[in-house]
Order: sequence, then structure tokens, then C-alpha cells
Amino acid sequence: MNNKWWQKEVVYQIYPKSFYDSNNDGIGDIKGITSKLDYLKNLGITMIWICPIFKSPMDDNGYDISDYFDISEEFGTMYDLRELIDKAKEKNIKIILDLVINHTSDEHPWFKEALKNPESKYHDYYIFKNGKSVPNNWRSVFGTSVWEKVEDRDEYYFHAFGKKQPDLNWENPELRNELYKVVNKWLDFGIAGFRIDAITFIKKDLTFKSIEADGVDGMAKCTKVSRNQKGIDVFLKELRANTFSKYNCVTVAEAPGVEYDELSNFIGEDGYFSMIFDFKYADLDVKSGSEWFKRVNWTVKELNEKIMKSQISIQKTGWAANFIENHDQPRATTKYLIENERNNDAVKMLGAMYFFLRGTPFIYQGQEIGMINFERKSIGDFNDISSIDQYKRSIKEGFDEKDALHFINLRSRDNARTPFQWNNKKYAGFSTKKPWLKMNDSYININAESQIGKKDSIFEFYKSIINIRQNSKYSECLIYGKIEPIQTSDKTIGYIRHYNNIKIYCFFNFDNNETEEYFEGKYNETVLNNLDCEFIENGKLRLMPFQALMFTTI
Ligand code: NOJ
Repeated sequence: MNNKWWQKEVVYQIYPKSFYDSNNDGIGDIKGITSKLDYLKNLGITMIWICPIFKSPMDDNGYDISDYFDISEEFGTMYDLRELIDKAKEKNIKIILDLVINHTSDEHPWFKEALKNPESKYHDYYIFKNGKSVPNNWRSVFGTSVWEKVEDRDEYYFHAFGKKQPDLNWENPELRNELYKVVNKWLDFGIAGFRIDAITFIKKDLTFKSIEADGVDGMAKCTKVSRNQKGIDVFLKELRANTFSKYNCVTVAEAPGVEYDELSNFIGEDGYFSMIFDFKYADLDVKSGSEWFKRVNWTVKELNEKIMKSQISIQKTGWAANFIENHDQPRATTKYLIENERNNDAVKMLGAMYFFLRGTPFIYQGQEIGMINFERKSIGDFNDISSIDQYKRSIKEGFDEKDALHFINLRSRDNARTPFQWNNKKYAGFSTKKPWLKMNDSYININAESQIGKKDSIFEFYKSIINIRQNSKYSECLIYGKIEPIQTSDKTIGYIRHYNNIKIYCFFNFDNNETEEYFEGKYNETVLNNLDCEFIENGKLRLMPFQALMFTTI
């Protein structure tokens, strides 16, 4: 694979509602992002991904778009976005937006027209079925049927996610062309590319037949029949040909359901996208990302195997988008470190482990200061629609309310969506008004102000790892170098990065105890150490609890 500009980037993901509120209405906004560009520049990131900012009734916090060409009022104006892009550019920071083209909001004019007038062309922009009863037993990603009845008509419409997110009918060429206009308009506006939402859902099994039930509700996950289905390649190739391929842009696809042996179509040299997120290890604590009540007791060894399998499969053909957090996941500190979530050494070790994998690293807002999950006491305290659904489903599956609450506290998407913790003052300096989502109480101790410039803080550690990747004599190796897994003890993750004649051994001890690890060759120079001690002999080293150690050999 030839080197590409986007391989060098370090991406920072912003959930705009919760980043910084510049006009004190309790909701984060675009001007808030602009006002924090210096903070991001200081951290060292080079590109920002902003979750959806378009007009939306916010049923799924912007992943339900009602106007692709305008900005949601609570986030600001088109002028604000222009200003953000320009100011970021002055600082050499690129902006990518979130592209949601599997579905719109039910308040999008196309859908409103489709409901009002079944004869209009917009009716075929969506997926409708006639009938007096629900067309099949497919369960949406957010629970309940994928079908919602149209009022006063014997007709149902399809939604893979929430009922206010009707799926677009990609079988319709006119609709597809409308979507390409959306994509090109924003690329022309000057953004560097897109993170692309739920793109593997655009093709459905057109038989729309019921399938074997997989839950007590008698329904079956729609992902089996409406994600990455046969024929999707035609749509994805056409999408690329009419849009992305005309620009020197980056495309990062959320493409769940893609198997490793299909990767070359997706991210190979002529693949549909620059890179895709792999969720196979992100969901290792649950049986599947849409069944939080099926908990799995995972081990570090399994995490190691899953990460390495992912890395090696991707390396064969393309490039990875590496992450440990995003707006749909719990905080990585709580998920991967469990009772050590507040141990700074452990948090840094975890950060370095994924950051130096082969691929473009993505940092989710707050990850760089070690934000943690937030336990809620009652279902009424949740905002996230999927948490509310998972709570109901857990109870249907036979768990009591206490268990159900426990499951969703561990997994809720609200964990990552609490307002950013800027300082230890009221509302953590996010806003002067009560925020749209309850603050995480941990802001008193975990906040940016107390970490910036403070030696040994998590923020300064992230700054240093970004600097090592971007600006050191090891940059080429750490960016473009191959990755190779190594044999380690069960509680350690280890890999080698190599490039030309540079070889960097990387070890990450996930345990509270010391471990002994082995390597080939002779120790040469330390590249990274999150502690201030190191015990390296010929071919052998001792790792202290939660130590991250990277060094070159000769
Ligand atoms: C994936 C997004 O990341 C998530 O937040 C959203 O709810 C669904 N797609 C539906 O758009």
C-alpha cells in the first residue's frame, strides 16, 4: 500500500452536544469547538471528527437528520461552521463530518411528503410495505420491530434503528443521486472527509421474510438480514465513484458486519473507503453490541488475540482506524480496566497500547483526561434511546430491575456523552447552565484544568504519545511500520513495530502484578515508558504493574 496523507493523522472525536457550550444554553455548540482549538492544538491532534451537526429533532442526538444542508440551531449556523473550518485550518487541523445516509429523520421533508402523499416520488425514497399486520419478525437495532405502522393506512415503514429514523431505499437510483449531491456539497465546502454512519445497513435482504427468532420476543436481530447483504458492493462502488473518488478526501466507515476475508473490497487499494472501524474487540464484554444483558467474562489474553487478529487481517490489505472509545461505547477506562479505572498508570498503559497499533488513532473527547463511566440510579436518568430499550429487553428476558440497571450502567452510550470535564467548578466549566445531560460527578477530580501542564498527568501523557508518533525519530516506524504480534504472558499485550531496520518492541502489562517477558536481539533505546523504572536485561524484561514499555533493539 502506498503511503496516504490520512495515515499520518491523529483524529479527535467530538460529540458536539457535550464538548463546550459557548452560549450557555446547556448544550455544546460549534463556537464551543472553535474556542477550544488551542486546547486541541496543544494536545497535538491533527484532525477532528464532529458527530452530526445538521438539523435534527435530536431523537438520536443528530443521527436523525431532517435537513442535510443546514445546521441544527442549538449547534449554531453555517457561518459558525465556516469559521471553525477556517480557524482549524490556520492551525493545520482538518475537519471531518459525520455522514448519515442509511436513514433520515421522520421529520425530513422527503419522509413527510412520502407519508402525506403515497403517490409522490418520495414514497419510493423509503421502504414501505402494505399489509394489515407487521410484515416480518425483524428486530431493530434499538429494539422492537423494524416496522412502524403508518397512521390511517394499512402500511408499514422500515427502520433499522429508531422509529424516528426511517431507512432510505437505496434500491432507488434517484434517491442515491440525491445523496451523492449531499456528499459532494460538503466536500466542496472544504471538509477533509467523512466518518460514515451505519453504511453496511444500506442493502437489505429484499425477500423480507421472517427468520428464526433469537429472543423471547419472538423476533430476530435485523442485522442478519439487513446488514452487509449480498449486492451491497454495487451501491458502495457507485457511491465511491460518484463522490469520494473525485476528491482527495478521507473516508472512515462504520461498517459492522464485515468479515476479515471481505476487507480488501472495503479498504483494499481500490476499496470503497480509506479505513473502517473494527468492533470485534470493542464488544468483547458482551455477546453482541445489541445485547447488553448477555455479559461475557473476558480475559486480557482474549483481548490480545482479538486485537492482533484484527491488526493482522487489516494489515494484509489496508489500514485500520484504531479506537478504544467513541460516543456509542462505555468509557474505555471502566470497560478495560474495571476496578483500576482511576489508576493513572493503568489508564496511560491502556492509552499507549492501542495508540501505537498500526493505523490512524482516534481519541474520543475526555479519553485524554481519563474520564470514567457514570453510574445512574434509575432508568429515568438515561437519555440514550438504546439504553432505555436494552433496559426493557433485559427485563423481558427475565432479569430483575436491579440487574437490568446494572447492565445498562456498564454499557450505556450516556457514559461517553456526559459533558466534557474542563475544570472542577460548577458544571465542570462546560456551561453556566444546567447541561442537557447530567454531569459525571467525577469532574471534581478528573478534569482538564488540573492536568494541563502537570507532569505525570494523563493529558500530558497523551500529548507525549502523540508527539512520539508524529514528531520523533521513530515516527516513520510507528506510523507506517508493520505490526507483528509477540508471545507474552497472559496479562500482557505485546507487539513489534518494524520499518526498514528499525524494530520497536512494545509491551503493556494489564495486571497489578509484575510479569516477565522476553524479546529477541539486544536492547538499544527506550521509546516510551509510563513509569520511571525499567528492568531490561539481555532478551528479558520485568514489567511493573500497569507498565507500558517500548524500546528499540539491535
Ligand atoms: C451509529 C452511530 O454511531 C450511533 O450513535 C447511531 O445511533 C446509529 N449509528 C444510528 O445512526
